[in-house]
Amino acid sequence: MCGIVGYIGKNEKKQLLLNGLKELEYRGYDSAGIAILSHNELQTFRAVGKLSQLENKCKDFSSTDLGVGIGHTRWATHGKPTEANAHPHIADFSNVVHNGIIENYQEIKSTLISKGHTFLSQTDTEVIVHLFEESLKNEYDCLKAFQQTIAQLKGAFAILLITKKAPDSIFYAKNGSPLIIGRSCDDANEIYFASSDAPLIGLADRVVYLEDGDMGVMKLGDFARFKNAKKLDGTKSYAQKEGYRYFMEKEIYEQHKVLLETMMGRVSEGDITLNELSSDFFTDIKQITICACGTSYHAGLSAKYLFERLAKIKTNVVIASEFRYALPVINDDELFIVISQSGETADTLEALKLVKKKGLKTLAICNVDNSSIVRESHASLLTRAGIEKGVASTKAFATQMMLLWILSVYLGKQRGHISSQELKSHIASMVESAKKTRVSSHLHEHIKRLSKRYLHGHGFFFIGRDIFYPLALEGALKLKEISYLHAEGYPSGEMKHGPIALADSELFAVALMPTHLLFDKIKSNVQELSARDATICAISTQHIDGVDDVLMLESCQSYMEEFFTMMVALQIFALEIAIRLGNDVDMPRNLAKSVTVE
Ligand code: M6R
Repeated sequence: MCGIVGYIGKNEKKQLLLNGLKELEYRGYDSAGIAILSHNELQTFRAVGKLSQLENKCKDFSSTDLGVGIGHTRWATHGKPTEANAHPHIADFSNVVHNGIIENYQEIKSTLISKGHTFLSQTDTEVIVHLFEESLKNEYDCLKAFQQTIAQLKGAFAILLITKKAPDSIFYAKNGSPLIIGRSCDDANEIYFASSDAPLIGLADRVVYLEDGDMGVMKLGDFARFKNAKKLDGTKSYAQKEGYRYFMEKEIYEQHKVLLETMMGRVSEGDITLNELSSDFFTDIKQITICACGTSYHAGLSAKYLFERLAKIKTNVVIASEFRYALPVINDDELFIVISQSGETADTLEALKLVKKKGLKTLAICNVDNSSIVRESHASLLTRAGIEKGVASTKAFATQMMLLWILSVYLGKQRGHISSQELKSHIASMVESAKKTRVSSHLHEHIKRLSKRYLHGHGFFFIGRDIFYPLALEGALKLKEISYLHAEGYPSGEMKHGPIALADSELFAVALMPTHLLFDKIKSNVQELSARDATICAISTQHIDGVDDVLMLESCQSYMEEFFTMMVALQIFALEIAIRLGNDVDMPRNLAKSVTVE
């Protein structure tokens, strides 16, 4: 989704801005642009497509004197991905970049047109820069004009604006979309801006995560006024593919390591502890609502089985975008858990704010510390997957699942539903599950060969039962996202109630057949499909008769081990099909890594 960078200083600004935008590339975008103001010259470059197109456009430009610059990657919402719609947006002497959506832009635009402003794009963003210049007609002070501009906007935004009327300044505002200001490691007077940590790592040593409603202006040296700045840690090593073809592939291969990070300090030989939460955090909780989107929603669906089975807590799972407008009934004794890889998903964040206003206790399961969702929640548990660059989530899902399993065992123990023997067996199984996610070259090769048989046909059904049903949903989502083939996840027992009508030799069914959970039941469902000539790929730890292919997995001692082992197989299955189809696995079309609009 859209990304923002900004810089105030004397270093070469074009390259700094382009480098920053490269760090945001993984979020998905369709056009990009930069604007640099130095010696009262304002230069703007924009291009459709990859950053290389933009680089090409500004290859002869450089700016090494003191000045300011802003940059943006755009993921189209209002108006097609064209150069005219790319940011920065331009008025007579100012430029603006913006993430989010200005809901009342049509009214503002009509008023401005009646006052003689000419618009060049179809975007909502362009009104901001015109509104600012209109305000300046009656207001000499640029900051006051900017404040008047922001006061008229409705919706979500992170905004950076530069103007020839204040050539040493960047004006900023945040409401609903993330925005960070950083102090340069090299020169404490220089300032960086970004919509997430990634572009700032290695460049800034202290940062301020702006809050909704924050706005102001920054000049060289102004960072010192922030008393609440935080240290920014991190290295750039995550940014390399380290020999893998795609970040997604690298991230799949990292899972066995990051799962240990998730467990560290929480899972010991004989116990599970969650030091991040106070011991009475769950005392009055009688039920749980889990709210999330996409892959995180699938983790939530899986957690329902664990919370109800292990901790005996009634659990409801909702899709954030549906929950927000459904006038949900909320009970005081309910815990609201939000799950999010990025911590910035607008739908999830808004649902969280809604229930918080109604007084519910909230807990975030998130991969990004200091993200909006973490900051908004009463408490948080970090999944510790490290930065995930592939748009299709893999290791973030794995760590969410592990953390939710840890949480359900913790609650089961706290409520007296899990004996110390069972606790030990869960712990052993967690350790084993992490090991099982290490990708063997044999498995990868097998899937690679198998993938060539699953490139065509009229669609896929991924089927499973119980907790393997949400895993089937996740397997289908992975395939859809990166291969662009139609795939659905379905509870296998439900196939006969309709979808089986689609079964013929051109229908691909990927059947999740765990030995340790309802094996005979799913076997019958697979036979029903086999009898109707569907092409079936069974994923199991045992041999299966009557199917076309069996993806044999290493034997496991529990269904959760089987869950993690199958998860990896499904990720590689999607990856190899997408690669065979020639798709850009890390940046699938139309998708964004962090969905900051509703
Ligand atoms: O950052 P979040 O976990 O809140 O994101 C939710 C979804 O947008 C995300 O999981 C999406 O479905 C991914 N592309 C899945 O691969």
